[in-house]
Amino acid sequence: MALVTTTEMFKKAYDGGYAIGAFNVNNMEIVQGITEAAGELNSPVILQVSKGARAYANHTYLVKLVEAAVIENPQIPIALHLDHGDSFELCKNCIDGGFTSVMIDASSKSFEDNIALTKQVVEYAHAHGVVVEAELGTLEGVEDEVVVEAGKASYTRPEEVEEFVTRTGCDSLAIAIGTSHGAYKFKPEQCTRNADGILVPPPLRFDVLEEVSKRLPGFPIVLHGSSSVPQEFVKMVNTYGGNMPDAIGIPEYELRHAAELSVCKINIDSDIRLAMTGNIRKYFAEHPDHFDPRQYLKPARQAVKDMVAHKIVNVLGSAGKA
Ligand code: G3H
Ligand code: 13P
Ligand code: ZN
Repeated sequence: MALVTTTEMFKKAYDGGYAIGAFNVNNMEIVQGITEAAGELNSPVILQVSKGARAYANHTYLVKLVEAAVIENPQIPIALHLDHGDSFELCKNCIDGGFTSVMIDASSKSFEDNIALTKQVVEYAHAHGVVVEAELGTLEGVEDEVVVEAGKASYTRPEEVEEFVTRTGCDSLAIAIGTSHGAYKFKPEQCTRNADGILVPPPLRFDVLEEVSKRLPGFPIVLHGSSSVPQEFVKMVNTYGGNMPDAIGIPEYELRHAAELSVCKINIDSDIRLAMTGNIRKYFAEHPDHFDPRQYLKPARQAVKDMVAHKIVNVLGSAGKA
């Protein structure tokens, strides 16, 4: 199968009550870990590239790595998506350069400016067979060079979504319902203990999601900032020389519930970074004399694969849906 857009995947996911994982890729081991898991589980998958990833690894290297993954996993649909595009030029470069989907994130602009820029990208993208994700509302956390402090985020206003989607023609919409970017999402003092004594962050605003879906029936919704910050990886980082503060991620049961509703795409990046870093630190602590990247990247790649497999089966529900 060649690279695909997300149109068909989202339609099936919406109707089937599951979501597609959108995982950020920055190097070969990450591409391999994600697509080996998706391939073995027969799951559709979205590989997404940020502006920072393009600056780090180079557009052509990333496209060619993803094309290699398509050849190695011909049985599953794979989409190549630009994550958080911030200008028409960046989106155009990715559309011209082989991506099948782009995000234009003009959520920090005014409603009218967000519409104008999104519409411009949609017109170019659709003329080239590419789909567009847009965003309304602001998430907390760190994404590329943008930091949104706690308390400065704003939930999506459901009363704006119909006008936004109609006027822009976008194909999917990222909304803010309380998820947050980065591995430091929620500090323990922002959380409360549940009945089992486990710290949980403020609940996601499912009322906002449901109101949005009522106004946009059948329309695919996207959640950013959906890493769960697995405590085993935070512990691993800290046990083997790291110094990460306590942080609580988005509970997986909340993401599972969102996937059963209108959420068709769930973005995960920080959990990949934590899985890799924890395992690389562990490897070096246990093998201080080793220096071959193939040795220390192997368990890191395996950890990405295991983590993605867990998400596909237990969170997204996309196993067997290829
Ligand atoms: O939401 C942003 C993603 O986690 C990408 O992060 O810009 O550091 O590649 P990055
Ligand atoms: P996390 O930082 O929660 O992994 O979010 C990733 C994301 O939203 C990429 O766009
Ligand atoms: Zn994001």
